Amino acid sequence: MIVDTDQLLEVAWQGASAAGQLIQESWQKPKSIEYKGAIDLVTSVDRESERIIIAAIQHYFPDHSIVGEEETIVHGADQECRWIVDPLDGTTNFAHGYPQFCISIAFENRGIVMLGLVYDPVHQECFKAVRDGGARLNGATIHVSPLAQLDEALLGTGFPYDRRDFADLYLSYFKAFMVRSQGVRRGGSAALDLCYVASGRLDGFWEMKLKPWDVAAGALIVTEAGGVLSDFSGNAFSIYGQETLASNGLIQREMVEIASAVARETRVD
Ligand code: IPD
Ligand code: CA
Ligand code: CA
Repeated sequence: MIVDTDQLLEVAWQGASAAGQLIQESWQKPKSIEYKGAIDLVTSVDRESERIIIAAIQHYFPDHSIVGEEETIVHGADQECRWIVDPLDGTTNFAHGYPQFCISIAFENRGIVMLGLVYDPVHQECFKAVRDGGARLNGATIHVSPLAQLDEALLGTGFPYDRRDFADLYLSYFKAFMVRSQGVRRGGSAALDLCYVASGRLDGFWEMKLKPWDVAAGALIVTEAGGVLSDFSGNAFSIYGQETLASNGLIQREMVEIASAVARETRVD
């Protein structure tokens, strides 16, 4: 199928703006919270946001396949066209009324992410990218930072939901990057962290065990803004992989060296 990226983007925005309105109206109100794990929570707004976005996609593209974090798996007649949706990235922040969360929507054609849209409804920032078309924030072209030394870099990271079991491992990476950079921020929304790398607010980012819906849109936005992604060893990045290391490209080698050294030191044989 030939995809019209303008139409896809328009539909992604229709879903994101409607879901964003719901999130914007509810983030300072009491929430109905359920637990998927000890610290992995989900609110009724996560589920309603997903429902709104899926409805928008299915209205225009009833044949497309869709995967959404909150239990949506649509095997559409068209298996080549697949949407990947995180209806609320940064749920813990949202549940606490901490204004750092977003909606992340990506579109994949034959396994290649063709467009990504990340919308932060509180700050009304919409990041988007189309493959080979550059990256934008509210319509203005964005670019990664020009900073070349890790020593001067501001980094972002996050910790997976199994952090109570693997705290030492995750803290080994945190310590190594903390002492080699100018600072490390833990924002609480991986999709926004990646967009912050794309827009030069962060110079680099790492996290383990992210899911495709956390990174699909943000990763394309980073590369279209001139940045680079890999795994912790410097190998090709995959949205289905276990390691995300993103940067402006200039500090990627230094970040890979540090992550590789931590992996060697923490390896359990
Ligand atoms: C989480 C956020 C967080 C990251 C976690 C993710 P969720 O997504 O992106 O920043 O550290 O690994 O699972 O659960 O809020 O959609
Ligand atoms: Ca997420
Ligand atoms: Ca989520």
